[in-house]
Amino acid sequence: MSSEKAQIAVTGLAVMGRNLARNLARNGFRVAVHNRSQGRTDALIEQFGHEGEFTAAADLPALVEALEQPRKIIIMVKAGEPTDAVIEELVPLLDEGDIVVDAGNAHFADTRRREDALKAKGLHFVGAGVSGGEEGALNGPSIMPGGSTFAYAALEPMLTKISAHVGGEACCVHVGPDGAGHFVKMLHNGIEYADMQLIAEAYDLLRHVLGLSATEIADVFREWNSGDLESFLIEITAEVLSQVDESTGQPFVDVVLDQAEQKGTGRWTVQVALDLGIPVSGMAEAVFARSLSGDVVRRQAAAGALAGPSASDAKLDVDRAAFIDDVRHALYSSKLVAYAQGFDAIRAASDQYGWDIDLGAMATIWRGGCIIRARFLDRIKEAYDRDAALPSLLVDDYFKDAVVSGQDAWRRVVAAAATAGVPAPGFSAALSYYDGLRAERLPAALIQGLRDLFGAHTYHRVDREGAFHLDWSGDRTEQSA
Ligand code: 6PG
Repeated sequence: MSSEKAQIAVTGLAVMGRNLARNLARNGFRVAVHNRSQGRTDALIEQFGHEGEFTAAADLPALVEALEQPRKIIIMVKAGEPTDAVIEELVPLLDEGDIVVDAGNAHFADTRRREDALKAKGLHFVGAGVSGGEEGALNGPSIMPGGSTFAYAALEPMLTKISAHVGGEACCVHVGPDGAGHFVKMLHNGIEYADMQLIAEAYDLLRHVLGLSATEIADVFREWNSGDLESFLIEITAEVLSQVDESTGQPFVDVVLDQAEQKGTGRWTVQVALDLGIPVSGMAEAVFARSLSGDVVRRQAAAGALAGPSASDAKLDVDRAAFIDDVRHALYSSKLVAYAQGFDAIRAASDQYGWDIDLGAMATIWRGGCIIRARFLDRIKEAYDRDAALPSLLVDDYFKDAVVSGQDAWRRVVAAAATAGVPAPGFSAALSYYDGLRAERLPAALIQGLRDLFGAHTYHRVDREGAFHLDWSGDRTEQSA
């Protein structure tokens, strides 16, 4: 316990809050801690009090009292109403210039609303995305703080010190005003969804098309992790696939119920991208695939009724090594598409909300600490260094070469999935996006024609300026609209 005032506070001491508080204390900062039920505060002091200088506060007034000014208070409670409840109780206790940080997985629109409300009271509100799970919170997460530059300047020494570091650089940067930090964290989660779906499809294809065992597939992922695909998610895929269930002796993956759950950040990403008008098909397919997996009623009704190749006859006569390499290409190319779409969404939101987000810097802070940390994020940073206005990551030389050189393999994998009856919505949506993006003419022209016929919605021509309408029910002459 310290006699000096604390430099920062954490309220909400479930595992993430507790680990963030410990991380701050271990890095030499004086931390005041509080939890609604005192038991968690006591447990933290009892088990980890020796790790640094903690001040235990019994209630929020005591927490506020324990802090030097301007006060910096991190809220780490459930997103939504619990966050609003803490803010409501906290605000009357604060003085002008104090800084409130929401480090939970808040929706960025809530963060914008809260930032606005607190600004009107002379307070700073920082919506900070924190990624890396319990382990990251304790040993170095990736941190994505939004809010005022004043608030970030005050927090920067602490946040950069406790964050992950890659090549000496902190995985923490000021993302932009108000909801920018939480937006980028939401996108991180959307990409996390897409990444995991693609990994799951690669696993499923190797299992059914080649008939590989879970352990053999673990070895494949282990090998992939030494190349371009190197990433935390590929690494832990090998770990999960090698795990054997203690009670049955079966591969662990075979005893887990095949219904993926979701807390909502992936769904938010897709909803927001729909509003921004940015195709994020990789993330959308990932969210839908989780929903389908959990749709027990319809799955049971369809299982025996809808004919198609079954898991046992999905095995194709393909060369094992060649198919594994094809799947690697399909996985990498589809992953690049998901990231390209994710960065398009960040750029669109940045333009819409005036956040001025540095896209290359976002790739930099995702290189360590977070769930989607990966070797190829350096390539994204380099791409935006070459051209900050890059219209799509896919047209940067590195990405272009990767998808173009991998496309034959990618097509073979999507075709094999269709032939074998193995669902691969992520791979095929990514390939369709690639083909849609590069197409010189899209069938959208026909859609425009249909819209004009049934609703006089007008169309534009390839050879003249202006909007036109055809008199479909009359003599079919064209009129300027
Ligand atoms: C992180 C994770 C974290 C959490 C996801 C899981 O960055 O540390 O993204 O936020 O693990 O929210 O989300 P689902 O439960 O929706 O899969």
